[in-house]
Amino acid sequence: TPISSPDLSKCSRGTDLSTQQPLDVNCCPPVVDGITNYKLPPVTKMRFRPAAHLAGKEYIAKYEKAVAAMKALDKTDPTDPRGYSQQANVHCAYCNLTYEQSEDSDTKLQIHNSWHFYPWHRWYLYFYERILGSLIDDPTFGLPFWNWDNPPGMVMPDMFAVTTSPLYDARRNLEHLPPAAADLNFASKPTTDPSKIVTNNLTTMYGEMVRNVSKLEDFYGAKYVVGTAPDPGPGTVERGSHTALHVWVGENTPTGEDMGNFYSAGRESLFYSHHANIDRLWSTWQGLRGKKPKGFKDKDWLDATYLFYDENKNLVQVNVKDALDNEKMGYTYQKVDNPWVNYRP
Ligand code: C2O
Repeated sequence: TPISSPDLSKCSRGTDLSTQQPLDVNCCPPVVDGITNYKLPPVTKMRFRPAAHLAGKEYIAKYEKAVAAMKALDKTDPTDPRGYSQQANVHCAYCNLTYEQSEDSDTKLQIHNSWHFYPWHRWYLYFYERILGSLIDDPTFGLPFWNWDNPPGMVMPDMFAVTTSPLYDARRNLEHLPPAAADLNFASKPTTDPSKIVTNNLTTMYGEMVRNVSKLEDFYGAKYVVGTAPDPGPGTVERGSHTALHVWVGENTPTGEDMGNFYSAGRESLFYSHHANIDRLWSTWQGLRGKKPKGFKDKDWLDATYLFYDENKNLVQVNVKDALDNEKMGYTYQKVDNPWVNYRP
């Protein structure tokens, strides 16, 4: 049986997964009556997601304005589900074991390290982006992606490193601000010679996206259905470059706030650009598959559902099968090079 959206009224204090202690924050979302099944709206004008390192001044100003507006909601109404902290809590709630599985109350829900990784984060960013766009009255607003798999993007994008910007987060490893090169092997085997980081990164990407993904599970992560215990196993990108950059960005402490810990990662604006790149890599990988299947045919995947608040504060239920094609969802990515495609070691 596919997992279905959790019962928000049964949300409980979760667990800090790096210390295994109860969380000292409450990341349960506000509870309202009534859930709507989300229908993808017809696409009239495509949202455009630019590479963060190529974005111009005007775009950056717009993005800062939107994030500032989202942060302002925290103050005007801390229970507004569109607020910056509430949005960060969405991530915490779906990772930090706050929810029960709706059909197995003995098993906690955790969407990471499984085949929910790509579709769940795609929906999370989808609504985050729509909320930002609606706060600045720009229905075409698209999130910037951090193009860390391409040498010109292998550094924290400048817009996030301006201390006065709403995109700045003080809880980071300060040694990793620009111009430090982002190390995609940081979590498992940090690269000690800085001159090797770029080539090591490309080799890693080739492995995660081309060489080590012959089976769908290798790319997507392991099957996860009702009754599956948390963490059945991540796909290549989730395990590798994805986690490495979470840890690389976060504080150099055992608990790694903000980006290096599940409960706090959504407080870091760079998180959403990190995941926009992962989302782009998902689409890129599908494009590389040719005639091979691009996703599971298993109903346990396609019919799984999640809950989010949309830009109108409605609680909506979404499913995996509506998340398989970013253009049908109304957004597209700036074209960039994928220099790892043929980067055989
Ligand atoms: Cu939900 Cu990058 O983690």
